[in-house]
Amino acid sequence: MISHDKLKPIIEVKNLNTCFDGVWVHKNLNLKLYPNRIITIIGASGCGKTTLVREIMGLEQPTSGEIYIANEKISNFNIEDPEAKIRLSKVGMMFQHGALFSSLSVIENVMFPITEYTNFSKQTIYEIAQLKLKLTGLPENAYNRYPQELSGGMLKRVALARTLALDPQVIFLDEPTSGLDANSANDLDELIQELQKQLSLTVVMITHDLSSIWDISDELVYLGEQRVLLHDTVYNAANNTKIKELHEYFNGKRGNITKQFHISQKTRGTNHD
Ligand SMILES: Nc1ncnc2c1ncn2[C@@H]1O[C@H](COP(=O)(O)OP(=O)(O)O)[C@@H](O)[C@H]1O
Ligand SMILES: [Mg+2]
Repeated sequence: MISHDKLKPIIEVKNLNTCFDGVWVHKNLNLKLYPNRIITIIGASGCGKTTLVREIMGLEQPTSGEIYIANEKISNFNIEDPEAKIRLSKVGMMFQHGALFSSLSVIENVMFPITEYTNFSKQTIYEIAQLKLKLTGLPENAYNRYPQELSGGMLKRVALARTLALDPQVIFLDEPTSGLDANSANDLDELIQELQKQLSLTVVMITHDLSSIWDISDELVYLGEQRVLLHDTVYNAANNTKIKELHEYFNGKRGNITKQFHISQKTRGTNHD
């Protein structure tokens, strides 16, 4: 178990149930996430990770249950409601495939949510978007290019800048490193970690990438059997022997190489914490 002293959870999911066409995706799922850290959600494909995140964002309606962000109940609201829009701006989501508008330039993509959610002047919106892009390290000569003209790693940076557009406290990243080569994935992980620290963000990340899990995750949430089966540090999760699938994930052939590498890094004192 992870000790959180006297911190209050920034996200709380209580007795969540989700049923699609008679199939239960979540059953009595409970989860408390605390601020200012990187939390990774893992679990088999189709176990309901993306759905859980969409429900927390208010983009999907759970069958029953309650969700709170910073103590405010967010389930069951109408996304068209202006109040809901304000609440939604506390959280940002980077979708699995980036979901950038191909007809808009890079900077216009980042300006888009700011235009939607604020009444700032066009110039101010432009300047905010520039700042967000700067944070992600995207070269300035790419700001006026179109998504289809950028590399995979650059696209992720634009998507990340757009996620940060409204100064969210919490960001959700759905498989951020998927489709990237190992070097670009490492660079993106470093950027995510840097932004988390600089902006005191709570980062909730869905990933299958063992390197990301070991390199930058502070906590791991394992979904299985329609609920949270484990919520612990990565190290404890990797050494858990009670959950067969989890043990296999960390100690099978692929998992073990990454595990040994990171544990050896740690004992040499070169790793974080
Ligand atoms: N809007 C929807 N309508 C019907 N079924 C859905 C919907 N969204 C997700 N599902 C189903 O719910 C299950 C969980 O999906 P998802 O949350 O995308 O899984 P994961 O992200 O863990 O791979 C899958 O079986 C998926 O087909
Ligand atoms: Mg998914």
